[in-house]
Amino acid sequence: MYREIDWDKIDISVEPPIEEPARQYYFMMKCREWVQVFVKESGRRPTACVTTFGCQMNARDSEKLRGVLREIGYDEGSEETADFVIYNTCTVRENANTRVYGRLGQLKPRKKKNPGMMIALCGCMMQEPEVVEKLKKSYRFVDLIFGTHNIYKFAELVAARMDSGRQVIDIWKDTDQIVEDLPNKRKYPFKSGVNIMFGCNNFCSYCIVPYVRGRERSREPDAIIREIERLAADGVSEVMLLGQNVNSYGKTLDVPVTFAQLLREIEKIRGIRRIRFMTSHPKDLSDELIQVMAESDKICRHLHLPVQSGSTKILEKMNRRYTKEQYLALVRRIREAVPDISLTTDIIVGFPGETEEDFQETLDVVRKVRYDSAFTFIYSKRTGTPAAVMENQVPESVIRNRFDRLLKEVQEIAAHACSVHEGTVQEVLVEELSGHDKTMVTGRLSNNLLVHFPGEAKLIGSYVKVLLEECKGFYYIGKKSE
Ligand code: 5AD
Ligand code: SF4
Repeated sequence: MYREIDWDKIDISVEPPIEEPARQYYFMMKCREWVQVFVKESGRRPTACVTTFGCQMNARDSEKLRGVLREIGYDEGSEETADFVIYNTCTVRENANTRVYGRLGQLKPRKKKNPGMMIALCGCMMQEPEVVEKLKKSYRFVDLIFGTHNIYKFAELVAARMDSGRQVIDIWKDTDQIVEDLPNKRKYPFKSGVNIMFGCNNFCSYCIVPYVRGRERSREPDAIIREIERLAADGVSEVMLLGQNVNSYGKTLDVPVTFAQLLREIEKIRGIRRIRFMTSHPKDLSDELIQVMAESDKICRHLHLPVQSGSTKILEKMNRRYTKEQYLALVRRIREAVPDISLTTDIIVGFPGETEEDFQETLDVVRKVRYDSAFTFIYSKRTGTPAAVMENQVPESVIRNRFDRLLKEVQEIAAHACSVHEGTVQEVLVEELSGHDKTMVTGRLSNNLLVHFPGEAKLIGSYVKVLLEECKGFYYIGKKSE
């Protein structure tokens, strides 16, 4: 993982090194010089704002961008006033793209008033050639465009923009490279995401992720362990292991390792008290993993297990490679081994060819599993995916109606499922002051539910035993139990 950079040793009067991460340190140094000129001329440090769209992977990538910006000399600013605005984009559903164009439109007049301002776009949406074409044509005021595979070159790309004064576009189709030891700036001092793998090989037929995040690549276990040991030494007690499909971790390594084996190693790290992970694909969730979860007191009592649909026919068309019965059997095995586990899921409504009967199968799974919460999505057609050209696309009004019915069912069950802990005392990791009431703090249970209880800022980052007095549907109100 990242160590302090020894700036005195970097000589930018010579050619940049070829190897990474030294090459990026060199370009950070170049950018620092530019920032120093800015400070001299304007009497203040420049500000930057990274806005994240989409999933936890993107959130983690944004922390890496912020780490580089900090090293270069930027202060964090708000999106409304920052000298450098970066959108880390998502493209999993069409409305994610629409939102980015909307926000970009709002930046344009600001940039006109302040030509020194910089705008960068990166992330999944940039991996779509049509998007880049559109940006080239209609959004000339964007300074820098890069994708998911070369995010580690952020410093080099910023330097290229500063040197040339022109729009810089650099998108790679794929990469097999994983660059370690780059800076990052964590949002929370006490918890952190940790990438264990990148990309996805599943090709679910609706999903654009394999096309924009590339082939599955696992990090070496040693590098992961080293990173978590350093995080623990730096005060982190909770880690979230991140991957599109963590259950297939390690399969492509030279010396293959299973995800369960990796978890056993991470468990040994002193200072780490909670281990989370996402996302799990049901087809790859092994009995070995279930056993590790059952035996562990560090792995959190929460599993996000996307079902997507309850209909075996639709699951097949989605290329999910499990049936409704196999999914339900898996849930049974997990619940038998870990009875207090909280299960959450993702569900797509309106996949091409979905009939009312198929939808009823989805409702049936929801009623049988009784999820603690479920993210429900309206199917979004993504150009280039097999589902986009399937017949029998479902009319919007039908999808809306199904979506509303599903949401109602999911919410009723979730409120009930969450309330089973009422009256118990549980350990909470305190995360922040409550957004609504500054005499309260907000913490998280092992099962991922939030709890608000009276407390002060000094509790943030610590573990507190809390009596869960009242369930409010998706969260609890409690009080310290000592
Ligand atoms: N339309 C709707 N939802 C989608 N997801 C992925 N692709 C699509 C799409 N084309 C959902 C899946 C996945 C979650 C991250 O996003 O449910 O699990
Ligand atoms: Fe997309 Fe399926 Fe990969 Fe998840 S597992 S990222 S839904 S292709």
